[in-house]
Amino acid sequence: MGGFTVEGGHRLEGCLTVQGSKNGALPLLAASVLVSGTTCLRNCPDLTDTRYALLILNGFGCKTSFHNNTAVIDSTAADRFCIADETMREMRSSIVFLGALLGRFGRAEVSAPGGCEIGLRPIDLHIESLRALGCVIEEDGSRLRCSCPNGLRGATVALSFPSVGATENLLLAASVAKGRTRIINAAREPEIVELAGFLNRCGARISGAGEGILEIEGVASLTGCEAAVSGDRIAAVTYMTCCAVTGGRLTVRGVDYNSLMPLVAPFEKAGCRLEHERGEIRFFAPQRLKGFGMVRTMPYPGFPTDSQAAFAAMLCASDGTSMIVENIFESRFKYIAQLNKMGADIRVEGRIAVIQGVERLHGAAVESPDLRGGSALVTAALGAQGVSRVTGVQYIDRGYENFEGVLSSLGAVIERK
Ligand code: EPZ
Repeated sequence: MGGFTVEGGHRLEGCLTVQGSKNGALPLLAASVLVSGTTCLRNCPDLTDTRYALLILNGFGCKTSFHNNTAVIDSTAADRFCIADETMREMRSSIVFLGALLGRFGRAEVSAPGGCEIGLRPIDLHIESLRALGCVIEEDGSRLRCSCPNGLRGATVALSFPSVGATENLLLAASVAKGRTRIINAAREPEIVELAGFLNRCGARISGAGEGILEIEGVASLTGCEAAVSGDRIAAVTYMTCCAVTGGRLTVRGVDYNSLMPLVAPFEKAGCRLEHERGEIRFFAPQRLKGFGMVRTMPYPGFPTDSQAAFAAMLCASDGTSMIVENIFESRFKYIAQLNKMGADIRVEGRIAVIQGVERLHGAAVESPDLRGGSALVTAALGAQGVSRVTGVQYIDRGYENFEGVLSSLGAVIERK
């Protein structure tokens, strides 16, 4: 199984332009089958997940190409609306195609994606929301047969949890529903604002993105347009934690500083410093990190669950104690057993991880349990004494483009082999 060999103890320093956002690109790729004509997405990250999304679009009959981080999708000839069972299991985020298929064809056949490494990942909120828009969803085992016998109609939908994916599916379907849709308790992540902005450029009439209440006035059709995918805020934080464990400094370009606001105070409590001007973020790590007290993962603009593993890895070797409460996913601490193999002192009680800072980690052979857990193990290895072997890099490749190349360019000694 592919792995990274990492020699710890090398100070990371330099400048990087962060990749396009995985979680920004995926809903835009889904939207490309909703809109007619051609969609062009620049700054699209070259990841396993984005490549897979293009294969799914091909399966609908779209013509796609991908060169130099630009994805071009022509959905003119698209005439199919099914996603195979094994495909759904391979990439659970493909559930976000559901709203686009219903908006385009009035029909869809997909599977419930099923659980994964970080939790059960139910889709009840997606199903309830789309039913509220007039969609008939028949569940046959894990297969979902969806149709809109009377077309999609606007409705008021109150989400019991501000689900990112359910909000995205609602935005996609409601954009072309008859009448007005109001989404209450909508997700407020930057990726929601990005999707709403893209759809509006395609002719949609969406307001309130980034707030808890979204208003959508359905239109008859949408036309593809060109857009640049935003910078990946989660990847930016990952590289900052890699820099932090080596006492380095980093200039990050290509990501909106405002999207990192939930992380600034925790970074500063750990002894790091962030400055930003003219689209650049300058990150400075202390010689010795400090425990940052307690953070709770919350929906945006709270501390992002996707960065909790990176922060835990960063604080293994620090002065003091840190506590992370994981409120979003029920099984997102699997990487901690691997950190403890490197000499970390972390105890997990349910959704709470208590990190007792140690002097320094030591290299070890560790296994990535999932995407963000895997990249966090590399963060830990970069600060550890000696050499580590991190396997399961197929998870890391889902969300980080050229991970080892970016880290090497900053001075890390890391090799894929
Ligand atoms: C998106 O997942 C992201 N993925 C996740 O990033 C991210 O962690 C998550 O949002 C939260 O920010 C993509 O954008 C592709 P949710 P999503 O629906 O949409 C529960 C990464 O590492 N829930 O907001 O699946 C769910 O079980 C990935 O890049 C229901 O109960 O997240 C979870 O506990 C991981 N019923 C919580 O809501 C539903 O119908 C948040 O899920 C839907 C969700």
